[in-house]
Amino acid sequence: MNELGKILAAEIEKNGPISLYKFMKASLGHPEYGYYSRQEPFGEQGDFITAPEISQMFGELIGLWAVDVWFKLGSPSKFHLIELGPGNGTLMTDALRGARVAPEFLAAAQIHLVENSPRLKAKQATALVGYDISWHDALPDIDGAPVILIANEFFDALPIHQYCYRESEWYERLVTTTESEFVFTLAPEPTSFDQIPAGADDDIFETCPDGEEIISRISELLFVNNGAALIIDYGASDTLLGDSFQAVKGHGHVDPLNDPGESDLTAHVKFATHKNIASARDISVQGPTSQGRFLERLGIEARHHMLSQKANETQKKKLDAQLRRLTSTSEMGTLFKVMALSHNMPTATEGFGS
Ligand SMILES: C[S@@+](CC[C@H](N)C(=O)[O-])C[C@H]1O[C@@H](n2cnc3c(N)ncnc32)[C@H](O)[C@@H]1O
Repeated sequence: MNELGKILAAEIEKNGPISLYKFMKASLGHPEYGYYSRQEPFGEQGDFITAPEISQMFGELIGLWAVDVWFKLGSPSKFHLIELGPGNGTLMTDALRGARVAPEFLAAAQIHLVENSPRLKAKQATALVGYDISWHDALPDIDGAPVILIANEFFDALPIHQYCYRESEWYERLVTTTESEFVFTLAPEPTSFDQIPAGADDDIFETCPDGEEIISRISELLFVNNGAALIIDYGASDTLLGDSFQAVKGHGHVDPLNDPGESDLTAHVKFATHKNIASARDISVQGPTSQGRFLERLGIEARHHMLSQKANETQKKKLDAQLRRLTSTSEMGTLFKVMALSHNMPTATEGFGS
């Protein structure tokens, strides 16, 4: 067992099995041994690749989406541009380059990055050198200027609880140890839910309390200050049941309970739950739509064409592959979904069709 494994095993030995939430939170965020504190997750050399790391086109189009929101808000002379979980800072760098079409947008933007990994904060500072940026460990309280918020693959990295249906009851799935490894077990007592329907035996139901809390906070910020938020992540549009807990290392799937802190643990985002939370707070919701359709509606093909005109043959092939990877139904185009939340906008945000 690795060092983090020993810490978690000692806790289980002392107090009994722990929730999956606790296991996942420590595996990803432990200040010394957590995945985002020590590993180099992104890119071909890392464990997985995210859309902004695949192509500059992704961040540039999101920058244009944000510029359009800003125009629709009446071109305010000050607004808060917030990104949750900025990774290497690539998306924000590309978005700000895309936004150069509107210098007043750049002058009005107060940039906030919400990041809890000191290692990644340092990378973001290097990528965004020259910009005035505030970093926050959690979504900040901001004053009365509109908000434009972006979150790509942020919510899938938040810890979840899982419940398993057995003999007409939901039992929380807990993590315990055998002599040498972590395994799942079920809580001895069932958990009751108000709104969750009965399942079939062995069905899994997942909740993400931190994600729900953050959607609630974003809704509050939008309601008070006006603006829009764009959430891009993978998950089903409406399914609530299913085991989506997974671990990725070196671009392949591994056992999620093995070697905590050494692989990226994720779970699908429950867009239907997020939609309900935002709607209940009088926030307008667009989507979820597929990432492929969203990028096509924002004009990824035109951007690809422009870049290809200045490219040599090798670069052209690379651009074609990037376009396919971001939009094709067999790659990220369908699995990844995009949802926009907004308040007090005269018209809907771009990318979702009529
Ligand atoms: C999967 S990465 C996505 C990175 C980036 N958005 C991209 O698309 O390349 C998740 C990011 O969220 C950050 N993160 C995860 N949990 C967080 C939390 N609770 N608070 C703040 N940042 C968090 C990670 O450190 C990382 O920067």
